[in-house]
Amino acid sequence: MISAALLTLLPVLAHANPVEKRWQAETWVGSPTSNVYPPNGTSVNTALFPPESVVGYAGPTPTGIEPAAIQTASAYPYTQMPAFRWPLVVDQPYDNPSTPFDITQYWGNLSPVYSVNSSIFGLPGASPLVPDQCTITQVHILYRHGARYPTGGSAPAQFAEKLNAAANNGSTWSSWGDLDFLNHWQYGLGAEILTPFGRLQNFELGAGFRVLYGELLNNFTAAGTLPVFRTESGDRMVHTADNFAAGFFGVPDYLTEVNIELMVEANGVNNTGAAYDNCPNANGAPSDIGGTVAKEFAVNAFNSTLARLNSEVKGIQFTPSDAIAMLQLCAYETDAIGYSQFCKLFTSEDYMNFEYYYDLIFWYENGPGSPVSAAQGKGLAEELVARLLHQQITVSDSAVNSTLDSSPILFPVNNSIYADATHEVIVGDTLTALNLTAVFGTEPLSPTQRSNGSVFSTSRVFPFATHLVFQVLECPNMSPSKQGRWILNDGVIPIDQSHPGCPWNKDGLCPLNTIISALQNRLAEIDFNYACNGNYTYGPGNNYGGLAPKS
Ligand SMILES: *[C@@H]1O[C@H](CO)[C@@H](O)[C@H](O)[C@H]1NC(C)=O
Ligand SMILES: *[C@@H]1O[C@H](CO)[C@@H](O)[C@H](O)[C@H]1NC(C)=O
Ligand SMILES: *[C@@H]1O[C@H](CO)[C@@H](O)[C@H](O)[C@H]1NC(C)=O
Ligand SMILES: *[C@@H]1O[C@H](CO)[C@@H](O)[C@H](O)[C@H]1NC(C)=O
Ligand SMILES: *[C@@H]1O[C@H](CO)[C@@H](O)[C@H](O)[C@H]1NC(C)=O
Ligand SMILES: *[C@@H]1O[C@H](CO)[C@@H](O)[C@H](O)[C@H]1NC(C)=O
Ligand SMILES: *[C@@H]1O[C@H](CO)[C@@H](O)[C@H](O)[C@H]1NC(C)=O
Ligand SMILES: *[C@@H]1O[C@H](CO)[C@@H](O)[C@H](O)[C@H]1NC(C)=O
Ligand SMILES: *[C@@H]1O[C@H](CO)[C@@H](O)[C@H](O)[C@H]1NC(C)=O
Ligand SMILES: *[C@@H]1O[C@H](CO)[C@@H](O)[C@H](O)[C@H]1NC(C)=O
Ligand SMILES: *[C@@H]1O[C@H](CO)[C@@H](O)[C@H](O)[C@H]1NC(C)=O
Repeated sequence: MISAALLTLLPVLAHANPVEKRWQAETWVGSPTSNVYPPNGTSVNTALFPPESVVGYAGPTPTGIEPAAIQTASAYPYTQMPAFRWPLVVDQPYDNPSTPFDITQYWGNLSPVYSVNSSIFGLPGASPLVPDQCTITQVHILYRHGARYPTGGSAPAQFAEKLNAAANNGSTWSSWGDLDFLNHWQYGLGAEILTPFGRLQNFELGAGFRVLYGELLNNFTAAGTLPVFRTESGDRMVHTADNFAAGFFGVPDYLTEVNIELMVEANGVNNTGAAYDNCPNANGAPSDIGGTVAKEFAVNAFNSTLARLNSEVKGIQFTPSDAIAMLQLCAYETDAIGYSQFCKLFTSEDYMNFEYYYDLIFWYENGPGSPVSAAQGKGLAEELVARLLHQQITVSDSAVNSTLDSSPILFPVNNSIYADATHEVIVGDTLTALNLTAVFGTEPLSPTQRSNGSVFSTSRVFPFATHLVFQVLECPNMSPSKQGRWILNDGVIPIDQSHPGCPWNKDGLCPLNTIISALQNRLAEIDFNYACNGNYTYGPGNNYGGLAPKS
């Protein structure tokens, strides 16, 4: 799989990775405006404004049966554009193509999640609805936080700094035409935390999962057992799980109906949802292949638009990095404040290149082109197997934290509903560790030439609120009757090529035992210690299957 001709040794670069890694407590450049709400010294007055439990007179409260739309509905509720991203307002691109062009599907990991048609992964006709004759017995969901502000010190803030610096050192700049708005524009984004739309995304995901899978709550019958929904300690991750649980159980009911587990994300700490924290190579040069090639790609990708924009400004020159920053501002401002004037500056071609810029980053950093991706996803893959086998994990050879996973309280293995929140990089690493190769394709992405119609697209796999579901089904007319399958953002993933022993099946089904043994073999080939701490040669243009090459 390794193409020797393309194997190059990359220079060791500072970790200038545009992808989020973790919450960072760093000094903020770009001075975002601080929110003044709520005013100092205010708090809710529960004496004068008591809650329902104190006021009483609630009226009748019958709850009805638990919904199970995943097996009772006549059709699957795919997200309908553009309703699911209400209340965002999104312009058409500069070239105003004759057929409507949804730019939000070209924002890479900054895209709001949208339904993927199973035919893209190779299963035309498959649906997330439980196939006839089968019933659902377990569901496992791994999901990403909703829309957030930029991570600390990233390109949009640097762009604002550049404008400020130019204004402050004599060379007053001005702009006109399409760029007229820039004269009055102010950078106003926060950092790291969820935006209001991001909260809505996670709430909607939780409410949607209750409608689809609520019936599985009927399995929690033993006194004292509640589901455990896991997330990380970073502020946006805590709010992500809270909003998901609030959607699933309601407010304030979620406070008493589910245990929400906050796993510490900090350097050196074992946490499957933040696996880069105990994997040194994940924070060094081996994880930078994608960022490096994407930057090279961007140098030539936006020239004609940059020429147009530079003809509408004096006193400042826009570079390819500024094009990326302005495209990111389009995405971030829309996701945060509902609308961005930057969006209509760019053509549909620019948006395709912007998406491809991210495709390069993620395919080579958290997909098959990375030598450290499978190692980082190994922990969550091991945890799926442990839950399927109903076995605690007592020894760690990955980011697994065996203190947590050996405890049936902190890491239950006999439940019917599992929900883990994480970062998009870990979702990609986990897809790689699970060898779900159908979402990435096998052909390494060209570092210079955008490939059209490739199976992989970042906004399909890594968007805000992306979610990977594993369904365990009981199908009495199949042999064996216990079956399983994966679904990513409503697209069913075929596994007959990637999970030895799994037959081709139009619904993506495979016997659960066959899936488990294929995963065990896959996990055995992921050498966490070598990938995370070893010294090996790597470079762009390779499909490593996410594994560190043995040289
Ligand atoms: C609010 O309190 C913070 C310290 O907690 C202080 O820095 C800030 O100036 C106060 N703001 C106002 C408007 O009084
Ligand atoms: C998925 O794509 C197939 C083939 O292009 C098409 O027939 C089908 O209607 C699509 N399904 C949905 C739900 O859009
Ligand atoms: C003036 O602004 C330009 C353009 O951003 C910058 O490159 C240069 O370093 C600035 N000079 C000073 C003295 O700040
Ligand atoms: C295991 O997880 C707990 C809670 O997140 C954390 O405090 C502890 O440091 C972790 N253990 C290791 C070895 O990282
Ligand atoms: C695009 O512009 C860059 C400078 O930003 C230049 O180095 C490059 O040669 C140009 N590429 C093409 C294809 O014109
Ligand atoms: C933490 O991870 C390392 C590396 O896999 C492992 O050696 C160690 O035993 C783990 N610690 C715990 C408590 O799981
Ligand atoms: C989970 O189920 C397995 C059998 O399937 C059993 O051996 C184990 O004790 C159970 N664990 C708990 C915590 O109930
Ligand atoms: C959940 O309950 C259903 C029956 O309602 C049963 O078939 C299934 O095995 C149970 N799942 C688990 C994980 O116990
Ligand atoms: C992809 O399509 C664009 C037109 O949309 C074209 O300019 C470009 O050359 C194509 N790339 C490849 C690799 O075919
Ligand atoms: C992973 O999937 C590929 C197909 O994309 C397959 O060739 C390979 O054997 C699989 N690896 C394992 C360990 O199952
Ligand atoms: C890694 O290997 C290369 C070549 O074998 C060597 O030059 C380099 O010093 C090694 N780096 C480390 C950190 O061991």
